[in-house]
Amino acid sequence: MTEIDVARRIEELRATIREHNYRYYVLDEPSVSDAEYDALMRDLRALEVATPDLLSPDSPTQRVGAPLSSQFAKVRHPQPMLSLGNAFDEGDLRAWRERVLKLLGEDAQLAFVVEPKIDGLAIALTYRDGRLAIGATRGDGEVGEDVTANLRTVGGLPMMLREPQQRDEGRRMKDEEASSFILLPSSLPGLIEVRGEVYIRIADFEALNDGLAAAGEKVFANARNSAAGSLRQKDPALTAARPLRFFAYQVGPVEGVELTGQWQTLQYLRAIGFPVNRDARRFTDFEAVLAYCREWMARRDSLEYEADGIVVKIDDFAQQRELGVVGRDPRWAIAYKFPAREATTRLLNISVNVGRTGVVTPGAELEPVLIGGVTVRNASLHNADYIAERDIRVGDYVMVKRAGDVIPYVIGPILSRRDGSEQPWSFPERCPACDTPLERVEGEAAWRCPNFGICPAQLVRRVEHFVSRGALDIVGIGEKQAELFVGAGLIADVADLYALRAEQFAGMEGFGPKKIANLLAAIEESKARPLDRLLVGLGIRFVGSVAAQDLARHFGGLDAIIAAGQADLETIDGVGPVVAASVVDFFQHPENRALVEKLRAAGLTLTGGAPRERRGDGLAGKTFVLTGTLPTLTREQAAELIVAHGGKVSESVSKKTSYVVAGASAGSKLAKATQLGVQVLDEAGLLGLVGAAGAEGWGLGVGDPDAGGEEQEGGGQLGLDL
Ligand code: IVH
Repeated sequence: MTEIDVARRIEELRATIREHNYRYYVLDEPSVSDAEYDALMRDLRALEVATPDLLSPDSPTQRVGAPLSSQFAKVRHPQPMLSLGNAFDEGDLRAWRERVLKLLGEDAQLAFVVEPKIDGLAIALTYRDGRLAIGATRGDGEVGEDVTANLRTVGGLPMMLREPQQRDEGRRMKDEEASSFILLPSSLPGLIEVRGEVYIRIADFEALNDGLAAAGEKVFANARNSAAGSLRQKDPALTAARPLRFFAYQVGPVEGVELTGQWQTLQYLRAIGFPVNRDARRFTDFEAVLAYCREWMARRDSLEYEADGIVVKIDDFAQQRELGVVGRDPRWAIAYKFPAREATTRLLNISVNVGRTGVVTPGAELEPVLIGGVTVRNASLHNADYIAERDIRVGDYVMVKRAGDVIPYVIGPILSRRDGSEQPWSFPERCPACDTPLERVEGEAAWRCPNFGICPAQLVRRVEHFVSRGALDIVGIGEKQAELFVGAGLIADVADLYALRAEQFAGMEGFGPKKIANLLAAIEESKARPLDRLLVGLGIRFVGSVAAQDLARHFGGLDAIIAAGQADLETIDGVGPVVAASVVDFFQHPENRALVEKLRAAGLTLTGGAPRERRGDGLAGKTFVLTGTLPTLTREQAAELIVAHGGKVSESVSKKTSYVVAGASAGSKLAKATQLGVQVLDEAGLLGLVGAAGAEGWGLGVGDPDAGGEEQEGGGQLGLDL
């Protein structure tokens, strides 16, 4: 190649890579695979190495971060970076609107732009002639720090602006009232200061902390701190290694183009290459603003990033100017804050719990702390490594997070609050219930009590599971009774429940004749439960109610399931290699086979699983995933309804999923659906699909308060061992 060819090729590669960056970060529509992208970067880097005089600081290769010449220089913001007044309920929001109307005159025409309030840190980016000249942190609002070198490494933050184009309809942001076609300036400004938030996605934050902990380094207390800490690294190469992202939401000083409103500004920012949050909306009806805030609150747990609220802004810039600023807070905007999801509290003790399969998990006993309106006393500490790597000590102040349907967990200790009285903790070497030395499977984080089948703690958990609603559903036995029966030596396995006799309860507190009769009747009645419920009750890893029904239906009897090999099992729709292997493994253990024989002798139902009553095939070819608590249907009822109409129910969300049916406290499955663009339905939506007639008799309106809480079911014992 001649030198001119090389220069041309370099420019071509840079333009292509910029276009891919734009598609990936701004449009969320990546057009090449990671591998293809990496190959382009490799080619560009090679050419730049060969011709160093063609290197430019705007080249996409320079995102790795050139070293800082000195410590961060101070930057005075040309316009102060303001903060926001807060609203904590709808009343506060209405009062804000009243104040606005009072100042602008009661007949002022208002439009509102509603934007997610991302929890990261605010920065200001100055572009001269389309190129990033300087990027600064907010600092105290007047003076920030020059972190340009670090900002160049942030994914999606353009180093060069794009020529704006009126985007086609499909890509335009959503104006709820679709009132007006907004004309965007058709050129780039000579100067523009763009403000926005640098943040880190929740999954990236968690992975980052895991990595730091494994390397023996301090973990970040939350996503915001990790974004801030990462941006203020002295070595930009370190910042480059952190998966930071950026959303633009405002402009400061601009020269050369005229922007007249917030909504237009967001569109323009997107058009010139900035990631802008797609969940921003424009409304003229204030009731619609409130409704959107409500909707947004409900979605909080399924977002990929931390949001601490929602910002409502007056759209029109002329009105904004008229309203002005009081102190640091503009009168034209307000932040509707979400309740906090994190809090610090004292770790009083670490206790261990033995699960159904012998997995021993540590749990935090906390000084009670209010998080998002709920008092939290216990939190997960995940496993032994988690505690050791983070050096979590009894007596520490810890950061605790409670979000959505996940169990609250300890993020890590607040090292600065240590006073020396904290006690390091080590994992017990023996089972707290049966004193058997604990074992750890190579490569697994969990410690197990290997005293399978005998350890009383495991037995209690297995009984609890066996009698639970999704399994044999024996009313009158719960944790307390299970502990009592095991402790008194009445039962040594779940089959012994069927050998219980009235005399054995003589003298036991709380067991009058009536209670005993009811209990024995409930146990007797459970013998008739269909095979799939017994399969669930056995507690085979990864066999939840959906897989159990598939197995029962396909094989028609427990003996056939026991006799089946891995390959036979895998032929069943919905049974993958993991489930199949787990089933084979379970029945290979002689003690499990012995248990089956005991249950057979006791008269339980080991056959059945006849094809379900078909009500139609309106859902044929459709795959559903259920998550969260539906208002009236239990998980089982919803699954049956779907299957009865020819649909399929699966445990995990993929691109092949047709619908995710989400109820209250839906968590990661809903997030995944949103991410993959899978359509989400609520219960009413599901019922709409099958038609109200088809849903009759499916427990509608029964209103079962215990219906939910079975999220972990599909994960086999995982859920119970948490
Ligand atoms: S507007 C006067 N919009 O919230 C306007 N701020 O409490 C001030 N933030 O420092 C900024 N998302 O760090 C605005 N969509 C958004 C925002 C947002 C997050 C942060 C920002 C700011 C703080 C104000």
